[in-house]
Amino acid sequence: MGYIIENITVITWDDDRLKVLENATVETDGDRISRVGCGKNDAARRSGKIRIDGTGKALIPGLVNAHTHIPMTLLRSYADDLALHTWLFDHIFKIEDKLTDDDVYWGSQLGLMEMLAGGTTCFADMYYFVDRIAEAAAESGMRALLSRGLTNNEDKDDYSDDYRIKEAVETFRRWNGAENNRIRVAFAPHAIYTCAPKYIKAIRDTAEKLGAVIHVHVDETLKEHNNSLNQYGKTPTQHLYDLGLFDLPAIAAHCVHVTDTDMDLMMEKSVSFIHNPTSNLKLGSGIAPVPDALKKGINVALGTDGASSNNNLNMWEEINLAALIHKGARQDPLAVRAEEAFRMATANGARALGFNNTGQIREGFSADMVLIDLSKPHYLPEHNIVSNLAYSAQASDVETVFVDGRILYDKGEFKTLDREKILYNIKRVCERLFS
Ligand code: NI
Repeated sequence: MGYIIENITVITWDDDRLKVLENATVETDGDRISRVGCGKNDAARRSGKIRIDGTGKALIPGLVNAHTHIPMTLLRSYADDLALHTWLFDHIFKIEDKLTDDDVYWGSQLGLMEMLAGGTTCFADMYYFVDRIAEAAAESGMRALLSRGLTNNEDKDDYSDDYRIKEAVETFRRWNGAENNRIRVAFAPHAIYTCAPKYIKAIRDTAEKLGAVIHVHVDETLKEHNNSLNQYGKTPTQHLYDLGLFDLPAIAAHCVHVTDTDMDLMMEKSVSFIHNPTSNLKLGSGIAPVPDALKKGINVALGTDGASSNNNLNMWEEINLAALIHKGARQDPLAVRAEEAFRMATANGARALGFNNTGQIREGFSADMVLIDLSKPHYLPEHNIVSNLAYSAQASDVETVFVDGRILYDKGEFKTLDREKILYNIKRVCERLFS
């Protein structure tokens, strides 16, 4: 079983090099891309594969949302326009205390639907009731790096009875490598202000034993940064580095206030820098030093963060903002180029999440691909397709989404998710939560 997409414009990466192929043919075989080339392959055409005419369309690698909290779709537009600490402690945590695993499941389904329709094929999540998120992700057919957000400010020498870590370990055992390795499980100390240092160390040691990667919020606000200097005499990055957290492969969300030295540490330990421009702007956290991180060669990827601080899961907005805000903030039109922003959302994201052989349209790679309709007015003329994608594209231009060689979304239709059922259940769970 496979597809042949003909007459297509392919925009992809050859490792770090941008590659644009006109009139190309892309073939898939099972979950893989089996051929990327020019000209027709008559043998393949006779093989019974399904042919798709790509005229007037672009094929790009699936977008990777490298930091989100999908069930927070339930909290979309609830408690907007507040400072991060007020928003989180006085509003979000209060509703989250009432959440059941059923709420989380339906909130996840809603988020998955939104992401798929916008061309996101892969995401990194941090939340709780992760088994239900994994169940939803598995049903959707999407690729995911899931984690249980771990918080405990109690300073102890032994955390072997910590129910959160126990849950995280169980989730890891149950789901890591499941669904043709589309689902993997990370360990997630939430942030330095919600985790005692010894707790972070305990999480680190558990993750190391299991061979798991790390997902953590780092230096999101100036308040976090200054509190860290006061409490530990060092920056959040230095603090986590000294605790040995970055000895494991890690993704660090936000990094808004990281210093030059912090970025050297991130580079030394190959920590991926997850830029969340919308969330940082909305919560007034600041603008992350992305141009400096890129100059140092740090792997920068993009995330939406949760829907309550964004308020959507639309990666096209993140690409657009990543390509724009640094130019404005630094009064430098070269600060982040269109191509770099597009790479952050595709190849860099796949690399950050550790899904090797995804994030590029390349022979032997996973067939995680998105067809974009280029017939819309905002794509014409086509002087530069990558500029058009970064500055002009809309999530609604996404026509077809493949993950692991399977079509999950096609022209408004979800192949694995039940739209009506999801909308009904969202209404039901929200009535209880917000009554
Ligand atoms: Ni977050």
